Amino acid sequence: MQELKFFVITDTHFFKNSIGAYGTDYELYMDTQQKCFAETEAINRAVFDDLARRDDADIVLIAGDLTFNGEKESHRAFSEMLHDFQQKTGKQVYVVTAGHDVNAEPYGFNENGRFTVEGTTYAELYDFYRDFGYDRAIEFDREHLSYVADLSDDVRLLVICNDTADAKHVTYSDEFLGWIASQAQKARADGKMMIAMEHYPVLAGQPLLALIGDARQSEAGELVDTLADNGVHLIFTGHMHNQSVNVVETQKGNKLVDVCTGCTIGCPAFMRLVTVKDEHTVQIESIPTPDFDWDKHGQTGKEYLKVQFDRMIRTFIDCMENDPVRFMNKVHIKSTPALQKAFHVLGKRLRRMTIGGFTRLLFVRAAPEIKNHSFTDFAIDLVRIVFEGNQPFVEGTPEGDTLLRVFRRLAPFFKSMKDAQGEPVDFYEMMKHTVGNYGLDDYNTTLNF
Ligand SMILES: [Fe+2]
Ligand SMILES: [Fe+2]
Repeated sequence: MQELKFFVITDTHFFKNSIGAYGTDYELYMDTQQKCFAETEAINRAVFDDLARRDDADIVLIAGDLTFNGEKESHRAFSEMLHDFQQKTGKQVYVVTAGHDVNAEPYGFNENGRFTVEGTTYAELYDFYRDFGYDRAIEFDREHLSYVADLSDDVRLLVICNDTADAKHVTYSDEFLGWIASQAQKARADGKMMIAMEHYPVLAGQPLLALIGDARQSEAGELVDTLADNGVHLIFTGHMHNQSVNVVETQKGNKLVDVCTGCTIGCPAFMRLVTVKDEHTVQIESIPTPDFDWDKHGQTGKEYLKVQFDRMIRTFIDCMENDPVRFMNKVHIKSTPALQKAFHVLGKRLRRMTIGGFTRLLFVRAAPEIKNHSFTDFAIDLVRIVFEGNQPFVEGTPEGDTLLRVFRRLAPFFKSMKDAQGEPVDFYEMMKHTVGNYGLDDYNTTLNF
């Protein structure tokens, strides 16, 4: 089998900047966003210039959420940029669309506040993206904008999308799962290795993310079995804007690895370079997205994106004290005067608290090296590392040992916990593996099937 290399990027969230992304309301909006907005055109242009220069691979997969929010002008500009890229470099782009690509009422911001711009229908996506996979496909399912295409003589790509004209993020019907199974079987019969791409992860990026309903493909277990038991052992995903590599084994003993890649326009921003060495060996490398042309106040691109991420978390913590109504809105809690007061007091205490002060509330001892550190700064780091992957707070580190004591103390309160798909959860194990990575390397690893 001939070695094959390709790039994977995801969640490009391209926004045509001339629509407008500035003003007081824009800044207020950006207080709670992980991803950039005004900057996304500049970032994407830098990414594709970089991909054009790199001669490691001639294929680029994009795992969905192509535009910021489905603005038609963004789709037009982004697809033009992809056309240009293909034409100038001879490289091939394969896309899947996702929830952020269809929207009846997307928006921009200017000095007068937020305004609505022309959106995009599901039916229109075909015309924008037909040159980026659909028309090269050997099988195409128009209803799901899903397809099968040969990347080389030996490797075949299955692209599945969980949107239809009528609904977003659908549970796959038996009929569609049957289509997937038959495509996988056909690949085997044709002597091809099949790999897959879907916007939604099939495995939770980190265990805690399994509690979020929208973090995974719904009824993911059925899809996992359909893929792995029919010989598809690798899927590339996005959506959660986190970096992770996870593996699961089906009841029949077949493996599936989900490689979820961070978005290009927010922290953590990475591209993957994938080398299929042979049917049983795939190497995954992670490359930070390149710096981009923007007034970044003297920061590197990476620092700039991290500042935006931390701003989002800090806003939540600040709001608890200073604007509890906004806080409750953001976390979907119904606001009452009593709760407003409670969150105000809690927020005020938390903001001034050290790690040691916080753990003492739970009768737990913090490691001496970190007990005087700010609790807020620690909380921000904690949230960020869950998304960055390769979480460093493992057993044996001051942070890890402190957190494990906290989780052990809290575990009895979460005894009958279930994840968003109804599976029972062991709170202690879930939290331990969320703040510390004990499994596969989330950045650079060699997968063996
Ligand atoms: Fe996204
Ligand atoms: Fe998404």
